[in-house]
Amino acid sequence: MINHRIAAAFAALEAHRVDLASRSIADLFAADNNRFARYSARLDDLLFDYSKHRVDDIAMAHLLELARAADVEGKRAALFAGEKINATEGRAVLHMALRNRSGQPVMVDGRDVMADVLSTRARAMVFANGVREGTLRGATGKPFTDIVNIGIGGSDLGPAMAARALSPYIRPGLRAHFVANVDGADIADTLADLNLETTLFIISSKTFTTQETMTNAASARILVAKTLGEGAVADHFAAVSTKLDLVAKFGIRDDRVFGFWDWVGGRYSLWSSIGLTLAIAIGPAHFEEFLTGGFDVDKHFQEAPLEGNIPVLMALLGVYYRNVWGHAAHAVIPYDQRLARFPAYLQQLDMESNGKSVTRDGEAVTLATAPVIWGEPGTNGQHAFFQMLHQGTDVIPVDFLIAAEPTMADAHHHALLFANCLAQGEALMRGRSRAEVEEILTRQGMSGTEIKKLAPHKVFPGDRPSSTIIYKSLTPRALGRLVALYEHKVFVQSAIWDINAFDQWGVELGKELCGRLAPIVMDATRPVDGLDGSTAGLIGYRRALTDKQAG
Ligand code: F6P
Repeated sequence: MINHRIAAAFAALEAHRVDLASRSIADLFAADNNRFARYSARLDDLLFDYSKHRVDDIAMAHLLELARAADVEGKRAALFAGEKINATEGRAVLHMALRNRSGQPVMVDGRDVMADVLSTRARAMVFANGVREGTLRGATGKPFTDIVNIGIGGSDLGPAMAARALSPYIRPGLRAHFVANVDGADIADTLADLNLETTLFIISSKTFTTQETMTNAASARILVAKTLGEGAVADHFAAVSTKLDLVAKFGIRDDRVFGFWDWVGGRYSLWSSIGLTLAIAIGPAHFEEFLTGGFDVDKHFQEAPLEGNIPVLMALLGVYYRNVWGHAAHAVIPYDQRLARFPAYLQQLDMESNGKSVTRDGEAVTLATAPVIWGEPGTNGQHAFFQMLHQGTDVIPVDFLIAAEPTMADAHHHALLFANCLAQGEALMRGRSRAEVEEILTRQGMSGTEIKKLAPHKVFPGDRPSSTIIYKSLTPRALGRLVALYEHKVFVQSAIWDINAFDQWGVELGKELCGRLAPIVMDATRPVDGLDGSTAGLIGYRRALTDKQAG
């Protein structure tokens, strides 16, 4: 049940929406010369522009009241204080400790965890340096050139996204690869061009039980043993996990195992030893800068007043469109090619965190929760799905992400990229009316009959909202800021929806059923009795196609 104050804030927002719906965003700009300055917030060089949204001062006041009514500030304090806010798993949520630069303790169960955090990181960074400098080598004495991270979900998406984003910082001669899918094509294609003698595998898994990761790790281990000999396994594998006993059983040397803690959620673990592949690739100093970027945002999130607090504003606008305007999707479009994997990373962060239907107390939610998060880099998206963003029947709010200057790329290209980004935001917001279209076509000398036929197709409804996040360049620190902004955005939304953002029970049923089906799929003599008709039919069809006898 949502409390009375929250209900009142939503009722006020609903009532005001009717008023706002009759005014275009362009009208809002026309009425306020200062709108860009008033509807933007800064964190150092990073600027969050939310002036192209369907909000005015009244809407923003209601949204901020909503945040207060939901006790976002109290819940934020509980988060940072290490309370066990992940109640269904009985865990605190303290990935912020991994990037804590304050010198202050971070308490979990009455104990400061900072000494463990720092010593674990120091060990991991010594290892990273050893690989980079070639003091740690493969079994045949050659330095490593290729690091293969084997992990999935939070043990893959974060490091893979960041390694791509920070590719200009990767040491020449070193390459980072990421194998996630249980589909054997993933590991086969990744290893196809690699020399095992110079390849280091890092098995990344919080639980060290995940089917995909364990299957890929076993295949890699067999391959190394077959190619370089069993004795080479110790030199070519390292592991990152919270389950050190299970890692030991796999046979990885103690000094190559890097831990983290159950108060770091999988999708929040990039800051931990899970970032090892990234740290090897970009180097410990840049990895530390990335952590500092996360800390910048933690400070901002805790200290900035709600009305200038970027993650709070991002969250409120998201809730506004999801719950007041009924928009079910949210696009994140980086005009930054190296952020190509950022939307995929955010899908897990947002949808695994907030894709919930019950409140923290286990009651059915009364408000829609996580929207569909999706996106691809611009300008590529412009030539693919932007048609739908501009003229489709659904309104999809967009986050545009862009650097003010390129990181090791051509300035002319970047100027065009920047212009494209702004043009899309402007086009979504302004649209083009029927009258404007008719005027343009008349000027082009088209006949009245032709204009009548063509004009409807050339109308853009406009008033399609977008935020723009601009930062100086995509440095490790800037990336750390972007990631942490979205992390806290997701947290604030969970606070408003009163859901637990830190469990993920919704992934379990499929895993369980796969455990039951895998033996039947593997053994064609096993009966399919008891399975639903579709599942049994599909197994039977596969058996027929693969020439096996149905059991
Ligand atoms: O199945 C979902 C999930 O548990 C994610 O939350 C997690 O990031 C991923 O699997 C991988 O888990 P692990 O790091 O334990 O292998």
